[in-house]
Amino acid sequence: MKILIIGGGYIGHRCHDAWSDSVLSTDRIESKEDMIKLLDEHKPDAVLNAAGVRGKPNVDWCETHQLETILGNTKLPIIIAEGCQERGVYLLHIGSGCIFYGDSMHPDKKWREEDMGNPTEVTYSRTKWAADLVLSTLPNVGIGRIRMPIDYIPSPNNMIDKLATFQKVVDVENSVTIVDDMVHVFRQLMEKKATGIFHVTNPGTLKHKEIVALYEELVDPSHTNEWISNEDLVKQGLATKGRSNNFLASENLKNIGIEMREVHEAMKDTMGKYAKMKKEGTSSDKVLTC
Ligand SMILES: NC(=O)c1ccc[n+]([C@@H]2O[C@H](COP(=O)([O-])OP(=O)(O)OC[C@H]3O[C@@H](n4cnc5c(N)ncnc54)[C@H](OP(=O)(O)O)[C@@H]3O)[C@@H](O)[C@H]2O)c1
Repeated sequence: MKILIIGGGYIGHRCHDAWSDSVLSTDRIESKEDMIKLLDEHKPDAVLNAAGVRGKPNVDWCETHQLETILGNTKLPIIIAEGCQERGVYLLHIGSGCIFYGDSMHPDKKWREEDMGNPTEVTYSRTKWAADLVLSTLPNVGIGRIRMPIDYIPSPNNMIDKLATFQKVVDVENSVTIVDDMVHVFRQLMEKKATGIFHVTNPGTLKHKEIVALYEELVDPSHTNEWISNEDLVKQGLATKGRSNNFLASENLKNIGIEMREVHEAMKDTMGKYAKMKKEGTSSDKVLTC
């Protein structure tokens, strides 16, 4: 299967490195014509949209760069989808679980794929939700929502590195995505040409405290940090807007026979591999080309 990956960032490179039959495009896409040109050049069986704008150094950047964020997260996916629809090519778009804030209305508090997002004020979340709202009406399109990627490869994009380097860490609990599992799930979704929305998060939830404890056990026993509440994040001026924290159910993946490892099992395995990479001095600079 020939997969065309759009977007040469963290996730795009991570998937490209895992799939030897994929092509990674870092070309700018500004119009449907740009997309059609790419499709005609590569003639893929499926497209992964790994392009987008998530703000650097963090998502607060989007609050002062609203238009760039809208163009990258809402307009760009529509342009990519337009080209794919015209050429009859399956598209898997990477969405974000950060369109949900707090507990859902379900008794188990978990958000389902068909639930409406509630991104009240955060620009990034609103632009990602807008894309989901419209793309999910199209045939031959799948949306894989991920959250807080956790990887065995050290990288500034990796949740482990973020938690390990922050002096003050919020004490919260979330659904998360183990990147190794995500890569396999994306591949299966594209092979099945699965349509609809999928929560690509590992079953179960993880507390930041559990991740940091495992880091201290397996990577750096001398690590220390201060714990703060989610409200303190904005109160103390560490973030402009409150962050999304939530639990996601992944019923749609299960319904089509795709499974992910239980989150604690996957986390332990990932942290063990991460510790080995750290010991060997390997980082994303050496492993990934981005
Ligand atoms: N990483 C996360 O924590 C996370 C969590 C949930 C969801 N996601 C979603 O996953 C997707 C990939 O994220 P990522 O972490 O890989 O982000 P990333 O490292 O910032 O990569 C995104 C890439 O998209 C490219 N891009 C932006 N506009 C483009 C355009 N018009 N044409 C072609 N390429 C364009 C960017 O290029 P330039 O940098 O040159 O502009 C960048 O290389 C995004 O949709 C993001 O919302 C990520």
